[in-house]
Amino acid sequence: MLLHIPDVLSAEQVSACRKALDAAPWVDGRVTAGHQSARVKHNLQLPEDSPVARELGALILSALERNPLFLSAALPAKIFPPLFNCYREGQTFGVHVDNAVRQFRDTGFRIRTDLSVTLFLSSPDEYDGGELVIEDVFGPQRVKLPAGHLVLYPASSLHKVEPVTRGARIASFFWVQSMVRDDAARTLLFDLDTAIQQLNARNPEDPVAVQLTGVYHNLLRRWAEL
Ligand code: NI
Repeated sequence: MLLHIPDVLSAEQVSACRKALDAAPWVDGRVTAGHQSARVKHNLQLPEDSPVARELGALILSALERNPLFLSAALPAKIFPPLFNCYREGQTFGVHVDNAVRQFRDTGFRIRTDLSVTLFLSSPDEYDGGELVIEDVFGPQRVKLPAGHLVLYPASSLHKVEPVTRGARIASFFWVQSMVRDDAARTLLFDLDTAIQQLNARNPEDPVAVQLTGVYHNLLRRWAEL
């Protein structure tokens, strides 16, 4: 499933992030790249242990905890502390797949990357190019979202970032280990949850909604790994 989640951060939160990031110490993005991806990665990143990255990462994690669409779609068990990247004119990240397991450098915190997330922090009119292109069963999906919006997609997908030809593209990126590892099973649960919420909105007393809620939880009980 590839899902666009709007308005994860407010305009005020985006501008606070951008102010902090403008003054932050960017380094070569290859610091976190695997062997294959290092050859195609040309961008800037904040070091994992940068205080700015940790402070803004905490802001993003707390916004995600309050976002019902993210929680329903990702069913997160663990979230990697958000990282930050910047593509300036001419910078790009060629086709690659994200590492299956990521370890946070200092703490040893480790996750299996089921889902990849890109949270856009630049508005699309600030730069040209820079689309995130994700290979999907329906063909390549080109993603460029308003600042404060995110895209959630299976970390198993091949993906790339097109060269930026004007301006700068700033984003946060991170990974989620889901309670439901299998993308197809997780997508079924998300579809079922969405349908139940629509039934509940129409008639909160509907006994069918209660029955389907039971089905949802019993499937989750069957599939969840904590
Ligand atoms: Ni990637």
